[in-house]
Formats: sequence, C-alpha cells, structure tokens
Amino acid sequence: MDDLGHALAEGGAGIRMLGGGNPALIPEVNAIWRRRMHEILDEGDRFDRMMTVYDPPKGNHRFALAMAAHLQREYGWDVGANHIAITSGGQAAFFYLFNLLAGEFAGGGRKRVLLPVVPEYIGYANQGLGPDFFSGVMPGIEHTAPHAFKYRVNFDGLKITDDIGALCVSRPTNPSGNVLTYDEVAHLDGLAREAEVPLLIDNAYGAPFPGILFTKIQPIWNENIILTFSLSKLGLPGTRTGIIVARPEIIRAITSMNAIIGLANGTIGQAMVTPLLESGEIRSIVADHVRPFYERKAINARRWIAQYFDAGLDYHVHASEGALFLWLWFRGMPITAAELYERLKNRGVLIVPGHYFAIGSAEAERHASECIRLSFAMDDATVEEGIAILADEVAKAYAE
Ligand SMILES: Cc1ncc(COP(=O)(O)O)c(C=O)c1O
Repeated sequence: MDDLGHALAEGGAGIRMLGGGNPALIPEVNAIWRRRMHEILDEGDRFDRMMTVYDPPKGNHRFALAMAAHLQREYGWDVGANHIAITSGGQAAFFYLFNLLAGEFAGGGRKRVLLPVVPEYIGYANQGLGPDFFSGVMPGIEHTAPHAFKYRVNFDGLKITDDIGALCVSRPTNPSGNVLTYDEVAHLDGLAREAEVPLLIDNAYGAPFPGILFTKIQPIWNENIILTFSLSKLGLPGTRTGIIVARPEIIRAITSMNAIIGLANGTIGQAMVTPLLESGEIRSIVADHVRPFYERKAINARRWIAQYFDAGLDYHVHASEGALFLWLWFRGMPITAAELYERLKNRGVLIVPGHYFAIGSAEAERHASECIRLSFAMDDATVEEGIAILADEVAKAYAE
C-alpha cells in the first residue's frame, strides 16, 4: 500500500490515483484558506502567537469555545469547552482512544474494540498496541436496485461481550459511503450504554462539517458517545487537526496523552477555523462549496460506472450517501480484488482492494475480497479514465 502514498506525493506521471483519501482541492475553499492566512497576518500579533507559542495540551481554548458554541447552536447539545480536546489529526485521535479504552489493563484484563459494521476504515487496522485488538461484524446486505446495495447493521450478530471496551463506527463510513440511519445509531447507543462502554463515532466526513453527505443525517451525541471530527476533509489535511467531543473524563485522559506524546498540537488549523466557527461562515463553506462539490463528483462517478460497466456483470455499487468513495462489489468475480489491484496498477490506475477494510471479521474478509474502494476526489478526467479502465479489467476478469 506504499504505492498509494508515493503516487500522490510524487505525482507519478500517468497514474490515475483513485486509491487515496486525500480531499480534493476546491478552488473556492482554497481561496478562503488564503484569505484567512492574510487575516491572521494582518491581525495584530495573531501570526506571532500562532507560530511562537505552544497551545495547552488540550488544545486552543478559544477554538474549544467556538466549537462548543457551534455544536450548541446547530444541535442544542449541552457541550462546553471541557468536552473538547484537539489531537494531531483524526488518525491520532483513534490511536489514543482505542488504546485508552481497549488492550491490556493494569489489573491484567484485556479488552477489544467492537466494529459493528465491517468493512470499516482501513486506518484503524493496525492501531491496537496488542494482538487480536478488533472484533468486527459483517453487516446485512440489502439489494436496493439491480446494481445497487446498502449495508444494514446486523444486530443479531452483534454481541457486546465482557471483553469489549468500546464500539466504533465511521459515519459516513469509509470505505462504503454508507450513512448509518439514526435508528441504527440510536440502537448502537442503547446497546453501548447497557454494556457500559462508550460508542465512538468517527465524523471525519459528517455534520456539521465537513458535511460530505448526500443524504439527510441527524447527528447524535451524549456523554456516552465519543464523537471525533477532523479539519482534513474540509480541506486542511496539512494542518493535522483532529477534534474529540466527549465527556470531561475522556477529555482529561486525551489531554494527558497529548502532553506525554506530543506536548502540544499544531496551532494553525485551529487559528484558521476559529473565526469561521464564531461567525457561522463555516456553514456556507459546507453548504455552498464542499458538499455540492463532492455530490457532483459522486453523481458523475456513478454515471461513469453505469456507462462503462457491462450491465450483464454481477457488479454492485454501495449507496453513495457520503464521503469521497464508491465501494464496488464484484460478486463471484473469478479473481480477488487484490489481483484486480495489481492488474489495474499495471494499467496506471490505483484503487484499494477491499480486504484491507475487513478488520476483525473472517466473514467480512471473504466478502471484501470481492470489493474495491475507489476515490472520486480527483479531477473528472482522471476519475472517468480510471473507471473506464476498471470496467475493462473487470469484464476481462469475469470472462476468465
Ligand atoms: C473515516 C476516517 N477517519 C479518520 C481519518 C483520519 O483523518 P485525519 O487524520 O486526516 O484527520 C480518515 C482519513 O481519511 C478517515 O477516512
């Protein structure tokens, strides 16, 4: 998977990079970041403080107040600055949270993280500081149209045994673009409370920002839910800013981990976004630019799939309800997705084979070895060419 990182960073000539999770460069949004930089430079000693003063390990207090006020205004949640901690990106937030809530405990006990819907975010896979860290559950598959499907939480298969320390879902889900329904999340929340373990909801693509959602969503938070945000998919992945919203006891633990591991986090993302939260401008950035941009991309990608794929093949596209990806299932394809990946790489197209997302579930691994994740964040020509080549290789594979 080194291929993915190198392809984007080095801009490998002729590579159609449909594999990575980098957000798109949206010109209107980039113009806002440039404007914000000028404002920071022009605002008294703002720039000097941003560059020369450590934030506290918990994060910038003005940012936490602005974030809490935004969540209060948007959803009426009873959230204060004491419910918010900053990490160096969402990825680091999960490393901290997983190893705080699961793994080996001082008394000798061991707990695992339960992933109720697998395939789930590839970035969790190796984060546990210990073996056998995750337990995953394969969801039900609902066929919604001839070439379309949607995952549904398999509550019958979901057992929160004593060795489970936390539940975790991404919503929207990376890789599938699924958005768990409110009822599904409320049900998971109820089960987690009953078992007295937290429910982690990874909101990297969710509401109120970055709002990469193509369906209505009702966000949910309470003191048993740990909600994570990131500035990455809003367009600031380079600032490495993750935000955890959780009960104060969790926030205190994260603050200690920040202090021990990194002393403090980067200041720039928070400085860029604080006034946008305070003024409410972040709403229009999402509604006028980020969401419509990705929605158009998702529609185009689905249209190209329908156009280039042979309708006679047993292929299925997961409902595209959010995030930057299409998740494709080639049922009964004679080769694995890993082999398809190699063939596509030889033709200059990078995707991610599905088995990497099958964390903690052998059943999901069998299913996901027939699936791939394709990002539609790149420019239209790259995505269309990539899909055309993919359709060609898949047709050849089915013919074997
Ligand atoms: C579901 C999900 N969670 C977390 C992350 C981590 O993002 P970052 O560390 O850039 O905030 C990503 C990145 O792609 C993601 O897709």
